[in-house]
Amino acid sequence: MMPSGPLPRACWTSFISLLLVCCLLPPGTQGQEFQLRVEPQNPVVPAGESLLVNCSIDCPSAELISLETSLLKESAGSGLGWAAFHLSNVTGDTQLLCSGFCNGSQMIGFSNITVYRFPERVELAPLPQWQPVGEHLIVRCMVSGGAPRDHLTVVLLREEKELGRQPAGKGEPAEVTVTVPARRDDHGANFSCRTELDLRSQGLGLFQNSSAPRKLRTFGFQGPNLTLREPNATEGTTVTVTCAAGPRVQVTLDGVPAAAPGQPAHLQLNATAKDDRRTFFCNATLEVHGVILHRNRSVQLRVLYGPKIDRAKCPQRLTWKDRTMNILQCQARGNPNPKLQCLQEGSMFKLPVGIPFLVRLNYSGTYYCQAESSRGTDILTVMMDVQGRNPIAITIALGMLTILGLVILPAALLYVFGVKKRHDIYRVRQSSTQLPLASRQPEEAVAVEVS
Ligand SMILES: *[C@@H]1O[C@H](CO)[C@@H](O)[C@H](O)[C@H]1NC(C)=O
Ligand SMILES: *[C@@H]1O[C@H](CO)[C@@H](O)[C@H](O)[C@H]1NC(C)=O
Ligand SMILES: *[C@@H]1O[C@H](CO)[C@@H](O)[C@H](O)[C@H]1NC(C)=O
Ligand SMILES: *[C@@H]1O[C@H](CO)[C@@H](O)[C@H](O)[C@H]1NC(C)=O
Ligand SMILES: *[C@@H]1O[C@H](CO)[C@@H](O)[C@H](O)[C@H]1NC(C)=O
Ligand SMILES: *[C@@H]1O[C@H](CO)[C@@H](O)[C@H](O)[C@H]1NC(C)=O
Ligand SMILES: *[C@@H]1O[C@H](CO)[C@@H](O)[C@H](O)[C@H]1NC(C)=O
Ligand SMILES: *[C@@H]1O[C@H](CO)[C@@H](O)[C@H](O)[C@H]1NC(C)=O
Ligand SMILES: *[C@@H]1O[C@H](CO)[C@@H](O)[C@H](O)[C@H]1NC(C)=O
Ligand SMILES: *[C@@H]1O[C@H](CO)[C@@H](O)[C@H](O)[C@H]1NC(C)=O
Ligand SMILES: *[C@@H]1O[C@H](CO)[C@@H](O)[C@H](O)[C@H]1NC(C)=O
Ligand SMILES: *[C@@H]1O[C@H](CO)[C@@H](O)[C@H](O)[C@H]1NC(C)=O
Repeated sequence: MMPSGPLPRACWTSFISLLLVCCLLPPGTQGQEFQLRVEPQNPVVPAGESLLVNCSIDCPSAELISLETSLLKESAGSGLGWAAFHLSNVTGDTQLLCSGFCNGSQMIGFSNITVYRFPERVELAPLPQWQPVGEHLIVRCMVSGGAPRDHLTVVLLREEKELGRQPAGKGEPAEVTVTVPARRDDHGANFSCRTELDLRSQGLGLFQNSSAPRKLRTFGFQGPNLTLREPNATEGTTVTVTCAAGPRVQVTLDGVPAAAPGQPAHLQLNATAKDDRRTFFCNATLEVHGVILHRNRSVQLRVLYGPKIDRAKCPQRLTWKDRTMNILQCQARGNPNPKLQCLQEGSMFKLPVGIPFLVRLNYSGTYYCQAESSRGTDILTVMMDVQGRNPIAITIALGMLTILGLVILPAALLYVFGVKKRHDIYRVRQSSTQLPLASRQPEEAVAVEVS
């Protein structure tokens, strides 16, 4: 009957009493000079306890003193200006309301009961079976029950030392965690948690409940040492990769296991340009008291190679038209990254690489494309032929333009004689498609001829 009942009922009684105060007691009534006391005022009691409540008025003509509560009540005597009640089984916070009459006017008084209870369960979550030294250890505590929650704090401990403390909050069960780095001397240490119900401000005490301790077991298992004899190997040289770990540790280098636990794993290769930025993986496995632990490492190889101009991506003969936009596609590879430039033989004119530019007649010639890095140079010869406007093509273009004119004239005449505008546009388009030869010419060339 307790948990759901009290609040609405308390509200209802407060509401009624408010009505009574407003309607029955005009301001300035003599009854107001007297006070209705509810004792004890705002008590904090342990859950399930019984409580004696005394409602008293110091008015000589007090009468009809009663107690409004959702709790089970019994009369515990009354006298001049007072009435006492015995409340049993107080299990939740509730509000009490006393009322009485003095000289015909009603009076009311309140008292709030706060119930406190110790947590039913304080438990430290299991620790990892084996905790690696140097990694974060998460210590978690679960607390069920306990009230009032705003007076309940959870303290996490390593032996007697506080690792952290946090309010329990409203959750059920409440969970509090703290993260600490695991150290070598944490091995064998007891971890625990403790709740503190602090009711000292209520005149009660500080109540502590502790969890059972849990022993931490740690191990030190550093990752394997994965080494390259030469981090920057020159193309064509032999690279040795070694993965080594402590005794009893089984290592696997790039998928190939070492001969036996405790033995290092080796890998040899002839460095090629393709091996640049290749990553080698080594993982180590150790069995500690039936628990298999893993660690892994990786290392990246850099191979010094090149410079090399990619013949396939760099055309060695170029035939371009004058005054057209073109791009010289050319790439060079290498580590370190080479610098690439193409210079015209004789003039030493520098041709842009990889960016569009307007080709001129005098760009014709032989170019030396040179890739350069601290490791040397690679040279590729590129022949460029820039063709001017072809006179035959111009003649053809002129002929086509004449034909075009002959087609347009009747079309124009048709237009004048009232053919639909839309139809007319269609005709112009149709005639323009009859220009396949001329349209092959660069557009600028045609424009020049027209003007
Ligand atoms: C006290 O109240 C709780 C519920 O509010 C009930 O379960 C319990 O039986 C009660 N105990 C007694 C002694 O009345
Ligand atoms: C209730 O309070 C009145 C006035 O303070 C007192 O005279 C009376 O003895 C009290 N009754 C009990 C049962 O404590
Ligand atoms: C109660 O009211 C009567 C008149 O109605 C008045 O004579 C008397 O003084 C009052 N007593 C108190 C204590 O106010
Ligand atoms: C009782 O608690 C309510 C809120 O729950 C508060 O408004 C009221 O003032 C309290 N009464 C007393 C007498 O402390
Ligand atoms: C850890 O707790 C256990 C059980 O309470 C106890 O026997 C042991 O002595 C404690 N160890 C340390 C290092 O305090
Ligand atoms: C919690 O602590 C209180 C005293 O602080 C004790 O009376 C109670 O039995 C404890 N509860 C548990 C579950 O250990
Ligand atoms: C390896 O080469 C890189 C550039 O490719 C350079 O930054 C680094 O310093 C070199 N390391 C060694 C050990 O030579
Ligand atoms: C790995 O290297 C570190 C530092 O270079 C060294 O202290 C450690 O002994 C090595 N571990 C193994 C298993 O070789
Ligand atoms: C070991 O490394 C390989 C890659 O080389 C990986 O596929 C495998 O999952 C790793 N094993 C463990 C147990 O970490
Ligand atoms: C590396 O190259 C040498 C000769 O150049 C050859 O004998 C050797 O087998 C090669 N090693 C590997 C791992 O390919
Ligand atoms: C290697 O170890 C890291 C953590 O040290 C882990 O995140 C990663 O998944 C591991 N990789 C493999 C292949 O086991
Ligand atoms: C081509 O001629 C123009 C002037 O007509 C000159 O500015 C440019 O430098 C010349 N380019 C080459 C590659 O000779």
